[in-house]
Amino acid sequence: MSTSHKAHCLILPYPLQGHINPMLQFSKRLQSKRVEITIAPTKSFLKKMKELPTSVSIEAISDGYDDGGIDQAKTYEAYLTRFKEVGSDTLSRLIQKLENSGCPVNCIVYDPFLPWVVEVAKKFGLISAAFFTQNCTVDNIYYHVHKGVIKLPPTQHDEKILIPGFSCPIEASDVPTFVINHEAERILQVLVNQFSNLDKVDWVLINSFYELEKEVIDWMSKIYPIKTIGPTIPSMYLDKRLHDDKEYGLSIFKPMTNECLNWLNHQPISSVVYVSFGSLAIVEAEQMEELAWGLKNSNNNFLWVVRSTEESKLPKNFLEELTIEKGLVVSWCPQLQVLEHESIGCFLTHCGWNSTLESISLGVPMVAIPQWTDQPTNAKLVKDVWEIGVRAKQDEKGIVRREAIEECIKLVMEEEKGKLIRENAKKWKELARNVVDEGGSSDKNIEEFVSKLVTISQ
Ligand code: UDX
Repeated sequence: MSTSHKAHCLILPYPLQGHINPMLQFSKRLQSKRVEITIAPTKSFLKKMKELPTSVSIEAISDGYDDGGIDQAKTYEAYLTRFKEVGSDTLSRLIQKLENSGCPVNCIVYDPFLPWVVEVAKKFGLISAAFFTQNCTVDNIYYHVHKGVIKLPPTQHDEKILIPGFSCPIEASDVPTFVINHEAERILQVLVNQFSNLDKVDWVLINSFYELEKEVIDWMSKIYPIKTIGPTIPSMYLDKRLHDDKEYGLSIFKPMTNECLNWLNHQPISSVVYVSFGSLAIVEAEQMEELAWGLKNSNNNFLWVVRSTEESKLPKNFLEELTIEKGLVVSWCPQLQVLEHESIGCFLTHCGWNSTLESISLGVPMVAIPQWTDQPTNAKLVKDVWEIGVRAKQDEKGIVRREAIEECIKLVMEEEKGKLIRENAKKWKELARNVVDEGGSSDKNIEEFVSKLVTISQ
């Protein structure tokens, strides 16, 4: 006699805040469709969290460095090698434990930074789904580097190249920095290796939505079983279909919620520049100084997130001389609540993919100052494809000067030239909500994914 179980997904994130959060939001969508979820972060990552989600079950695995994670490893290679070895073993034991407890796993959703997970899934006869945190255009570029089809970077700095699947020509300054920066070859290897086991997976889930990247998604879908499932932000900011979806995400930082919201409540509608460079970027001291003066000189008030590790780079006396009427500098904020606030007029951002998707979903136009990794490509999409922002120009030293910052803020916030940008931002907000709402493109993809899970769990 066959026993039927509830479909059960084991979610295996790479231990970075920007990677685990989209997976957590996706998990909540699955859970709302009656799929059992277990998230398996590393022990070292869990130790860093300020708060843990209560809505999903968590079972840690080990990367072999339980006390400090990657910071404990001698090199990145050493970290990845040990993670593969100890991770495969602890993941296997977790799958067995869940099996023995009467709640067997049917599917592993894994971060393709960890391609070895597919082998573990195969060993247990489970289906597997790679979950790409970054958008499809960025993934497509790494795919072509993997295939060696296109030699990147372009030989001349201003040479325009065409990547199959993306008809908008790109330049060296638009491709992910790891492709250009030869010192980061080890990281590029990880990004390129995302495709190494991809022909063996059942699904490729992309943290984006079809309407945003139609052309490249159609193209990549001919190669891989792609499903877009984003935007992966809490339902309370989009379709509001998930009840009690208060849970924000995981963070290694503590947000200064009351300070931020109280201050924003005193600002006029669409008047504030919100500034943040995410959880990882290390901004050069010279760039911090230009930002500080650019913001202070602009006509607008600003809310600026400067992580405590970055604070020493602020110009001397900047904080002391800053009046509370003009600006507020905090070490971390509740970004979604901030972006949703009616006082926000634009987002001056590094264009990390989570921040970009959040800004799109909440209809906030952007001033892009990309720093590294996928951010230049995201900035290219923001400016030239979706036309929901501008990219501030760097000088020959790679620094965006204060005048350029002021000019961009003015254009996006006030000028007639920025009107189309502001209108487009509103349009995309509407679309972002629709795609996760009942019958929207991402909702349909998630439904299809769940149906398959349910069928195999019978
Ligand atoms: C990293 C990479 O830098 C990024 O390019 C890649 O696409 C994903 O992984 P990160 O640098 O942290 O992420 O940037 P981003 O992807 O934008 O994620 C930042 C997250 O932190 C967002 O979800 C944002 O809402 C949150 N955040 C940021 C806060 O909650 N409060 C803050 O004060 C700042």
